[in-house]
Amino acid sequence: MKVVITYGTYDVLHLGHINLLRRAKALGDYLIVGLSTDEFNAVKGKKSFYSYEQRKQILEAIRYVDLVIPEENWEQKVKDIKEHKADVFVMGSDWENKFDELREVCEVIYLPRTEDISSTETKEYLKTLD
Ligand code: CTP
Repeated sequence: MKVVITYGTYDVLHLGHINLLRRAKALGDYLIVGLSTDEFNAVKGKKSFYSYEQRKQILEAIRYVDLVIPEENWEQKVKDIKEHKADVFVMGSDWENKFDELREVCEVIYLPRTEDISSTETKEYLKTLD
């Protein structure tokens, strides 16, 4: 069984997320998502609309996602990859080259981002509505 792992916040789910998860799953048989906790988002200077528990339940309802684990810091990836025997690490191209050091433990693939959509932009746009 080929295990794929990816990470992210996945707040205010949108088509860019679904495209990423569908293509990540297609690279193997079992997809794990390391979902940023609310505490880790604070470290990254992000604040999500949906809580970790809500974002986790939404991701778990997606057919491409097999397991959701918490992402609590920048350093845990090697440990996660080894623990879950992940064969492939996937991220969107906004992270191109950022995780190349993981090539020592598994295959690393950056998938092209879906254009013109992001959680931040969606939240900004919603603020402009009455
Ligand atoms: N992603 C993508 N295409 C988009 C938006 C996100 O492929 N249009 C991918 C990212 O590259 C990442 C995953 O989806 O691998 C989760 O990204 P996340 O940061 O949660 O989504 P964004 O919408 O980019 O969120 P934000 O605006 O808060 O950065």
